Amino acid sequence: MSMNAQEIRKAYLSFFKKQGHVEIPRALLVPQNDPTTLFTGSGMQPMVPYLLGDVHPEGQRIVDSQTCLRAEDMDEVGNNRHTTFFEMLGNWSLGDYFKREQLTWFFEFLTNKVGLDPNKLYVTCFIGDDDAGVQKDTDAGAIWKELFAAKNIDALDVEIGSEEDGYKRGVKPGERIFYYDAKKNWWSRAGVPSNMPDGEPGGPDSEVFYEFDDVTHDPKWGEHCHPNCDCGHYMEIGNSVFMAYKKTSKGFEALPKPNIDFGGGLERIAAAAINSPDMFKISLLWPIIEGLEGLTGKKYDDHKPAMRVIADHVRAAVFLVTDGVLPSNNEQGYVVRRLLRRAIRYAFDLGIEQDLLAQVSPIIIDMYKDDYPEIANNQQATVEALIREEKLFRQTLQRGLREFEKLISVKGNIKRKPGELTAQIALQEVTGELVFLLYDTYGFPVELTLEEAEKQNIQVENNWKEDFDKLMTEQRQRSQTAGKGVFKGGLADHSEETTRLHTAHHLLLKALQQVLGDHVHQRGSNITAERLRIDFSHPEKVTEQQREEIEKIVNQKISEDYPVIRSVIPREQAEQLNAEHEFNAQYPDMVSVYSVGPKDATAEDPKFEDAFSIEFCGGPHVTNTGMLASSGRSFKITKEEASSAGVRRIKAVLN
Ligand code: ALA
Repeated sequence: MSMNAQEIRKAYLSFFKKQGHVEIPRALLVPQNDPTTLFTGSGMQPMVPYLLGDVHPEGQRIVDSQTCLRAEDMDEVGNNRHTTFFEMLGNWSLGDYFKREQLTWFFEFLTNKVGLDPNKLYVTCFIGDDDAGVQKDTDAGAIWKELFAAKNIDALDVEIGSEEDGYKRGVKPGERIFYYDAKKNWWSRAGVPSNMPDGEPGGPDSEVFYEFDDVTHDPKWGEHCHPNCDCGHYMEIGNSVFMAYKKTSKGFEALPKPNIDFGGGLERIAAAAINSPDMFKISLLWPIIEGLEGLTGKKYDDHKPAMRVIADHVRAAVFLVTDGVLPSNNEQGYVVRRLLRRAIRYAFDLGIEQDLLAQVSPIIIDMYKDDYPEIANNQQATVEALIREEKLFRQTLQRGLREFEKLISVKGNIKRKPGELTAQIALQEVTGELVFLLYDTYGFPVELTLEEAEKQNIQVENNWKEDFDKLMTEQRQRSQTAGKGVFKGGLADHSEETTRLHTAHHLLLKALQQVLGDHVHQRGSNITAERLRIDFSHPEKVTEQQREEIEKIVNQKISEDYPVIRSVIPREQAEQLNAEHEFNAQYPDMVSVYSVGPKDATAEDPKFEDAFSIEFCGGPHVTNTGMLASSGRSFKITKEEASSAGVRRIKAVLN
């Protein structure tokens, strides 16, 4: 019997704990105080400060399974392996062990614990880069040779090269170790060496691939198949990054203590364990598919794309809502909304016209509640939020339907708001533009528009699909451009301005509690170089007078020039000190806290009892609050508004 996904997660954590690693809980799907990404998209993201040199409270060997969300992959979901939500198994050496231990342990885990056949495994290493002055990674290659030899496999190595040469030689019998260029085997937050800013760490990496014999190469992806080919014959299951270099103005410099940053796809390893190229067959997705089969009386084999979309999207939404993101029309909330609406629309195809989420979300909660207690603790609120959203969407659909009726009965023209795309539609027939408009404005499913048209005996323009696709592409480009500011290549913005506002954020939260009451806790946060934003629990509008009082307290603490001190202390101590923490977050045994004040606090003696504010936080912060007043600036609240039920939102600046 092969291990299921839950067993693989457990086995991985316990295997690395045996090798001296400390397990840390997953970070929330929404990064706090990191303005550069909307979601946690990889296991290393919450680890960045430690990879850059901060001391980790739990030591030099860390292991976890990090829930990740890649909203940008939403449109790809439907094939056999794309999902928006996944777990990344991670282990880190923060200046401790290096290549030999890493590759040996991961190989041992895959072959001896999970039980993968080593004959199905293929690996890649870095070919070297003259411009970067980094040599071919023959060390990693030699370690892999030994590891395969110990399994009686003679692993031949080959330089497969670069995309430019089309990887033209393909894979020959006996070859198992493939050297690729920086595009494939170099890892940094900014990508290839030439894209990295000075000061940025990075290094060569080594990936492991699993071969699916049943998937034959599709020449659509290139003449020859090879591990990095996208046809699905090979699937990447883990990546060991040897973070050994720092870019400088003079080229690459070896870091005094190189790190290991490993990320492995739990769902992918689980698919390899059951030798299924269809990821939806694993134990963290299949029960949802079975549930859908039961609800609809329809077979997965006949409805794969729709069932896959529903399974992935509802699973992602359950975790997002658990992590405090409610459906709304902005940023993260909009992603939850889109996920749920897409799931509901696809469910239409399967004949589910109501209560999709009420029926599907408990299946997901059941799969995760033992391993992630926060899923169990919040289950009622999560399911309620999903049900609310489904109701709302169904009302929207009805409105769309009414709108459709209205349009065709008037047979007139409609115009969108000034400044927006103007669509004039003579409703003698249904055009691609109308289909798009109903879809875009009312979330009205395309299939429904077509169905309605048929029902009402209205002709559908021949080339409607072309026009619709064109408008969709344009819309996607618009939202990508809007998203660019948010996904700056994943680079964390630790600029001075953001850091100042981050410290101001701590002062503000405390001031809010002092003025409004102890019920105030942070419910969300976002900081850019221009402004800070905080969402907090409070039932009513903050009055003008309260606003002034809050500003006064923050400015007073700035003028006191309090020291801002980072301490690493046991979680229990932090809890006893009533340190503020993120809503729903789970914390490791040792935590990093930042305290502000009193005036004579020092790193050796932080005087927590007299501190103005203490928060669980990874930083970074300024060293003294006086730095917030540079160039004569002061703290100002620019906006106060409702965020969601019982939650207010404040935006503030230093100017
Ligand atoms: N940070 C590496 C990745 O995300 C492990 O692939």
